[in-house]
Amino acid sequence: MKTEFKRTLAAVMAILTMVALAGCADMKDQARYEPLEQSAFFADGRASRPLVENTIARGFLREDDAFYRGLNSEGNFVARIPVPVDAAMLARGKNRYDIYCAPCHARIGDGMGMIVQRGYKEAASYHTDRLRAIEDGYIYDVITNGFSKMQGYASQVRPADRWAIVAYVRALQLSRMGELAGLPAEARAGLEHDGKYDPAASDHEGVEHGSAH
Ligand code: HEC
Repeated sequence: MKTEFKRTLAAVMAILTMVALAGCADMKDQARYEPLEQSAFFADGRASRPLVENTIARGFLREDDAFYRGLNSEGNFVARIPVPVDAAMLARGKNRYDIYCAPCHARIGDGMGMIVQRGYKEAASYHTDRLRAIEDGYIYDVITNGFSKMQGYASQVRPADRWAIVAYVRALQLSRMGELAGLPAEARAGLEHDGKYDPAASDHEGVEHGSAH
């Protein structure tokens, strides 16, 4: 008796499952177009309708000209990076710079990267008066749209990272514009002593040694 009940139950379950699956199959087979499929319904033969002109995907409005294009309200390059610069941003900028720019511009920014050493057109050195005085927005624009033989990096480097790279390029430039007077006393002592930076001169003994001369 008990087994018979079980058997009946199993049969009922099986039938219910089949009914349920049949329902699914119907939904799967309903009439619809695949993306980009052909259709005789519209004159242009395409099932998909073209987007309304100037359609912008959600989250891609990019209204902020300074941030997305490096331009101020008059359409000129912004003088300064339009977001706050901190140590984390500089570290990110160095990381991206070493990947995307150093192969040509070299890690020190003199334009003699490995690709240039192997015969590519010499990339610009950042250590020129013109590029030192240029707006931050200009460097952002070069990264975005390219310059001369250099391709643009808009498709590989997102806007926030482009600004991080600009900040790092500025740091590279500053690294060659330092003034002795701007250094901490310990470092200055070592430099004044023999013209080379001597880390040992920055410990206590070194300072006394340096200042004795
Ligand atoms: C494939 C090599 C290559 C790579 C990679 C590259 N550049 Fe360049 N870059 C060049 C060349 C070539 C020039 C043009 C030199 C010239 O004609 O004076 C140039 C010029 C520049 C200039 C100067 C523009 C001017 O007005 O003189 C800047 C700034 C610059 N690049 C920044 C970057 C930054 C930042 C990156 C990384 C996102 C980068 N480049 C990646 C090859 C490269």
